[in-house]
Amino acid sequence: GDGELSLSRSMINSSDKVIRKGGSIFQHAIEGWKINNSLVLEIRKNILRFLDAERDVSVVKSSFKPGDVIHYVLDRRRTLNISQDLHRLLPEVSPMKNRRFKTCAVVGNSGILLDSGCGKEIDSHDFVIRCNLAPVVEFAADVGTKSDFITMNPSVVQRAFGGFRNESDREKFVHRLSMLNDSVLWIPAFMVKGGEKHVEWVNALILKNKLKVRTAYPSLRLIHAVRGYWLTNKVRIKRPSTGLLMYTLATRFCDEIHLYGFWPFPKDLHGKPVKYHYYDDLKYRYFSNASPHRMPLEFKTLYVLHNRGALKLTTGKCV
Ligand code: CTP
Repeated sequence: GDGELSLSRSMINSSDKVIRKGGSIFQHAIEGWKINNSLVLEIRKNILRFLDAERDVSVVKSSFKPGDVIHYVLDRRRTLNISQDLHRLLPEVSPMKNRRFKTCAVVGNSGILLDSGCGKEIDSHDFVIRCNLAPVVEFAADVGTKSDFITMNPSVVQRAFGGFRNESDREKFVHRLSMLNDSVLWIPAFMVKGGEKHVEWVNALILKNKLKVRTAYPSLRLIHAVRGYWLTNKVRIKRPSTGLLMYTLATRFCDEIHLYGFWPFPKDLHGKPVKYHYYDDLKYRYFSNASPHRMPLEFKTLYVLHNRGALKLTTGKCV
């Protein structure tokens, strides 16, 4: 359409070929990268037709009262009760209200970050977004430590903190959150049933330990709106991954978006194995149809956008 971002199948296929062809071409494209400010503005404007990131990034206190019953976004037959604790932790106003940044980093969790030396560069951005409470201290040289906004799927409690079975798991969690200071902790609590206990435990720990972290819970319409934007642009994703959600939200707040740790492939361009996560031994899930995401398609889309100067994708070493 008129001035619309059209990511046709052929563009995506041709970038696929480029990626497969080898490192030299891909590296070349990165070295020659230049921001395309008019495209950045156009994408922001188009995304604004689907969602208002300032508002949709979190529900606010006035949206609910304790005891309200809501339907899960991706599981409409199941319901959730808004507890006292949850209500207490809802922000009064959007934590992203009126926040604007010149450059932002969105950090995905791919093992491609290992040995990248990108830590300093990531930390040099005005605003750093991370996913799923990924650890940073032990990997600072490659991933940096600055975290202004960090997501946490409820499943992280089980995966990385032993389901809070021991006191030491809870302590580790509280320690991790205390390092965040007053950064935004973004918890998709209303997506699917299954994590409600975990969310309650997290909320209780935050309140009990008087942690400063600023909790946010995405609006009930966010995921549909984000999916709608990409589908309208002919990118046939399933459920947007956290990383793609973060890029989409960031277009509202950031003039220049740099992506790191996006590489949903088991090998790098030289055939060397790449871990799914830089910090644990989780295996790739996206090859199976059961995966809720289409990360390789998302990646190709981001690669096309990189080549058009809409964002900067770093998949190699930082110098
Ligand atoms: N990612 C990637 N390549 C990988 C791993 C992750 O591009 N090998 C990106 C994806 O956009 C992903 C984000 O980094 O959403 C954060 O990674 P992770 O925490 O692993 O997300 P998942 O739990 O796999 O997926 P979800 O989006 O459902 O949270």
